[in-house]
Amino acid sequence: MRIFLAGFGVVGQSFAAQVDKRTQELVRRFGLRPRIVAVSDRGGVAADPKGLQVKRLLEVKAAKGSVAADRSFGKPGVSAAEALEESDAEVLVEVTPTDIKTGQPGLNHIMTALKNRKHVITANKGPLALALPALLELAQYNHVILRFSGTVGGGTPILDFAKKCLLNDRIVAVRGILNGTTNYILSRMTWEGVDFSTALKAAQKAGYAEADPSMDVDGYDSATKLVIIANWVMDMKVTLRDVSVTGIRNIDLREVKNAYDKGQEMKLIASIDSKLTVEPKPVARTDPLCVSGVLNAVTFKPQHGAEQTLVGPGAGGIETANAILRDLIEIKQALYPTFEV
Ligand code: HSE
Repeated sequence: MRIFLAGFGVVGQSFAAQVDKRTQELVRRFGLRPRIVAVSDRGGVAADPKGLQVKRLLEVKAAKGSVAADRSFGKPGVSAAEALEESDAEVLVEVTPTDIKTGQPGLNHIMTALKNRKHVITANKGPLALALPALLELAQYNHVILRFSGTVGGGTPILDFAKKCLLNDRIVAVRGILNGTTNYILSRMTWEGVDFSTALKAAQKAGYAEADPSMDVDGYDSATKLVIIANWVMDMKVTLRDVSVTGIRNIDLREVKNAYDKGQEMKLIASIDSKLTVEPKPVARTDPLCVSGVLNAVTFKPQHGAEQTLVGPGAGGIETANAILRDLIEIKQALYPTFEV
């Protein structure tokens, strides 16, 4: 399968390395032979219809800062959207940085690919938070597949679990801890009695929170993931504007201690019932949702069956790259369902 990789940061490089390392296995098990025919980053594009060498891409990126600096295949200054229009790639893997205000540049990349009848896999939450209902419609209209397993729960298959394993039921409510950074901060406040800013500094030092941590601590990262769950799992047509969001910036240590004394822990809970909400709330310590550190956890309430809770790591380059690979295999199987091992 011919792949256009937009974005060559931690996730993009991790994905390329995985594809390179596991090609033999993918061919043998799934009849999938991934070929990266173009890669874009801020400096431009590198493209070769015969397939680019991942080792060389990584070397050029490390040495020169952009894949476009490759002497043979580099096209400095060319935008991903321009290159996509010309590319014969069948799948766009979109992993540029998330921007929840404009969704760009990912939104433009995804729309260009869908309009040009390319399947899309993205780990970029910005475009989905702002326009997921429209993007799903655009994909359907053009008879192509749009997948985004890595956007919620990193490598933990939260979306696939609810969509596929609970297929026989209808999810009527969701409650989850969808952001590892805030859960780490609240865990430190609970267990070590440190205040918010001390816990935030620890999260930054550990490499969890960004230097500008507002996406995490103000609740918008959780809210974008909630929007994705609502659209994909519950067939709602909602965007970020439909979520009422309160972060953890103003949490007082006394609230955290009070909750603890009552057998509870303060958590940043993202929920869907009659409305979509992200807010700090006490959760009983006996609740399976009450996980510590950077873990994510989600409880799905089906209409007929019992509640199901899924717990796992919510982020990481390799985990997200693995989720993208999972989506790629799924697209391959949907397009060529007759492959037999
Ligand atoms: N910043 C996110 C988190 C990871 O802390 O959970 C990316 O989704």
